[in-house]
Formats: sequence, C-alpha cells, structure tokens
Amino acid sequence: MKSSLNNEKIILKNRPNPEVNESLFELIFEGVRELVSNEILVEVKYISIDPAMRGWISEIGNYSEPVPLNETMRSLGVGKIIQSKNDSFKENEYVVGWLGWQKFSIVNQKQIQIKVDPKSNNLSANLGVLGLNGITAYAGLIYKCKPLAGETVLVTTAAGSVGSAVGQIAKIYGCRTIGVTSSDKKAKICKDEFGYDHVINYNKVNNLSSAIKELVPNGIDCFFDNVGGEQFDAVMENLNTNARILICGTIGMPSFPIPMGPRINRTILIKRAKIEGLLVLDYFDRYNEIYNQLLEWYKNGKINIKEDISTGLKSAPSSLVKILNGLNSGKQLVKL
Ligand SMILES: NC(=O)c1ccc[n+]([C@@H]2O[C@H](COP(=O)([O-])OP(=O)(O)OC[C@H]3O[C@@H](n4cnc5c(N)ncnc54)[C@H](OP(=O)(O)O)[C@@H]3O)[C@@H](O)[C@H]2O)c1
Repeated sequence: MKSSLNNEKIILKNRPNPEVNESLFELIFEGVRELVSNEILVEVKYISIDPAMRGWISEIGNYSEPVPLNETMRSLGVGKIIQSKNDSFKENEYVVGWLGWQKFSIVNQKQIQIKVDPKSNNLSANLGVLGLNGITAYAGLIYKCKPLAGETVLVTTAAGSVGSAVGQIAKIYGCRTIGVTSSDKKAKICKDEFGYDHVINYNKVNNLSSAIKELVPNGIDCFFDNVGGEQFDAVMENLNTNARILICGTIGMPSFPIPMGPRINRTILIKRAKIEGLLVLDYFDRYNEIYNQLLEWYKNGKINIKEDISTGLKSAPSSLVKILNGLNSGKQLVKL
C-alpha cells in the first residue's frame, strides 16, 4: 500500500566502463509505500558522497556487495524521522544511516548508525568529521598507527574529509604533521584551517620523494595513505625505523588494470615497519565511543571542518564525479 508521499530517487542504470560519469544514474519518481512493523520513514536532509562509491557501483564491488542495477544508489545520509513503527525511534528524531540517494527512505534499525541531536552540532557534520570519515580517521590513526607525541605523521589527501581529520587528530596527540595534496589552494587550507606543520603540493614538486626527504631527513613514523600508486611509493622511500603504514584508501589507483609498483619487502624488513589495512565497517561497534570523542574535540574547537555542499538530489551524480576527480574541497555532501 502507498502513503500520500511522493519519492524522488536516483537509481543505478549502468556500471562504470571504466570511468564514472553522470549517465550511469537516473532520477525516478515513485510513491512511498506504507511502513510495516519495525520500519522507520526518514526525510533525508543531507547525503554523503564517498570515494568508496566507485567500488559499490562496479561489477565486482569492493568490501561490500555491488549496488544492483535499477536499485537506489547506496549512501549514508542524515535525516528526520517522520513516521515510525519501531519503538526505539520516534517522530522528529534525527538519525544517521544507510538512507540512499532519495528524498524519503524506509529503513530498519540495522540500517541506522546513530541518533543525532541537531541542536548539538551542524547536522551535516554528522556525515563528515563526526561520521564515517572522522571514525575512519580516528580508528586508523589511533588504533592502527598508534602515534606518539613528537612523531611525524604524513597524510595523503590531506585537505579531504578523512585526511583533514587525521591531520588534526595527530596534532591533538602532539605529532608533527605533513600533508600531501594537489593544489596551492588546498595546501593553504591545510595550513590555515587544519594546522598542518608542512604541506607538499605533489603537482608542484619535481620529485615527491626528495621533497619529503628534505622536510623529514629522519623519515616518517606514521603514514596514513588514502591514495596508493606513485604517492605511496614516494613515501615508502622515506620511512623511519619502526614506521606504521595504514592503507585506508586507493583513490589514486585505477580499479583495472591494477598498476604494479616497486617491491617493498626489503623496505619493510630494514625499517622493521608494520603495514595494515583498515575498513571502517569493522569499527561500527565503537561508533558511539569514537563519535563522542570527536564531538568533544569539535565542540572545543580542536577540530575544524570544511564542507563542499551541492544542492538538490539531482546533483548527487555530478558530486560523485567531482570527488573522484579531486575537485572537491572538504567533505562532499548533497543538501536536499
Ligand atoms: N578504509 C575505509 O574504511 C575508508 C573509509 C572512508 C574513506 N576511505 C578512503 O579515504 C580516502 C579519502 O576519502 P574522503 O571521503 O575523505 O574523500 P576526500 O579526501 O574528501 O576527497 C577525495 C580526494 O582524493 C584525491 N583524489 C581524487 N582523485 C585522485 C586521483 N586520481 N589521484 C590522487 N588523488 C585523488 C583528491 O585530493 P587531493 O586533491 O588532495 O589529491 C580528492 O579531493 C579515499 O581513498 C577513501 O576511499 C576509506
């Protein structure tokens, strides 16, 4: 049975071949059905746009199942509950969850990450520094890299949503921070707004490895990598003994064919380095705990946020293309 509400949603029509463009998606209109027991109807306010979506829409997926063709595009979002048949959720409460690229979303409890209070912070921040990106940054840096005061932390995509949170958390822990990014504009943001000690614009230096060596002759202690490829190779030539390397993302590497690089076995051996991967989904059981820590820092002005917000559901596909081409400046969001 349908309610009187009309939904707008964006479905996946085709898979990337290999590039992601707006024509892979289609906007459709349909009525919102009635809720069944335990379901919640959410009016979506902001949608999160994430690089991982490139994997979600491809044939092989990445760490989660591919989004099926002709289904609503998967995404996190934040919104207001407008109807509930679940005793744990009430009308007018706000939640973060897997709401998808649509105006109205029917979800169950499992698809909800957390309830949020719109009075305690910007609603949109719950998708960036207080959301998946902040949780990723915190878990990767604190649980995996375990930085010590005085150590040097290098971050790729330093001006981005995850990267900027890593840089700022590392400063809170008393580390020296080095950001790597693509433009002078982003480098300035890194210094002025995210407090990096040094920033390297990889498009301006002749040799990224030499530029790092000049800044940090003793080498990097914690390497938080979001890019892979040549940036990864350059940093790996500059490790300190006992370095910890976190593989968080590979946005700079094509999905296919996967490019080959130097063999790093001997570097890992000589530097007694530790290299690990991280998937934020593994930390969802600690979401509340990490969220509360990030919220405290955010409220105390220790963490700044920068957002890149487009307006209207229709702008979601172009926002995804934008982030995959590095043209965003801060957390990429769509406001409905
Ligand atoms: N492992 C996990 O659980 C997890 C969770 C969330 C995010 N991540 C990863 O974290 C990384 C950052 O995500 P985010 O949401 O915070 O995005 P973001 O950093 O706000 O935006 C993506 C940035 O990636 C860089 N980029 C884009 N295309 C590139 C290319 N071809 N080569 C090199 N750099 C490119 C650009 O930064 P520059 O202009 O500075 O180069 C761009 O601004 C991504 O790799 C993402 O997959 C991982």
